[in-house]
Amino acid sequence: MDTKINILAFTGSLRRNSYNKASLRAARDLVPEGASLDIVDLALIPFFNEDLEAEGIPQVVVDFKRKIALADALLIATPEYNYSIPPVLKNALDWASRGTDLPLYGKPLAIMSASPSMFGGVRAQYHLRQVCVVLNLLLLNKPEVFIMNANTKFDQDGTLMDDYTRNVISKLLQALVDKARELNEK
Ligand SMILES: Cc1cc2nc3c(=O)[nH]c(=O)nc-3n(C[C@H](O)[C@H](O)[C@H](O)COP(=O)(O)O)c2cc1C
Repeated sequence: MDTKINILAFTGSLRRNSYNKASLRAARDLVPEGASLDIVDLALIPFFNEDLEAEGIPQVVVDFKRKIALADALLIATPEYNYSIPPVLKNALDWASRGTDLPLYGKPLAIMSASPSMFGGVRAQYHLRQVCVVLNLLLLNKPEVFIMNANTKFDQDGTLMDDYTRNVISKLLQALVDKARELNEK
């Protein structure tokens, strides 16, 4: 019997009607049997500042790092801001990269992006891939999930209506769960 795989998911968008938040909710519904997906909100993580760090790691950061440590795998849905990842996401990764406990190190990760543009956030994904190298995140290469023209793929309640996208997110999640299982068995 396979052990349960816990996926922790987050996005760099704080927007109420965010397509990336909506894509994480879609992923939660599509998660394979034997796995679960929790979405963590990055809104309360303060801007990184070494002075703040020296005063003591904020509890919200401690909690975020603990959630990462307890997860078997991570899922990030990133918006694209000026061809890159938004500061909220970079800031959270920066906090998580500090200290002696490095929960991101060696953790399997899947990424996706949603944008109203016809490129679907592809450029942000490639910046995110670069950041993941130094963090030693084990980022899946395939399948690639770019939710382009996102404004046409979700209904007014933020439900993902596009079958192709639902299918490719399912495949991404299955690949992530397979990778996490493989690593857990080592
Ligand atoms: C500061 C800023 C820069 C943006 N730059 C890009 C961009 O380079 N490429 C792109 O496809 N969309 C860009 N957008 C549009 C976002 O993709 C769009 O706002 C998207 O809905 C954000 O993701 P969300 O729906 O999850 O909040 C930008 C938006 C903002 C606010």
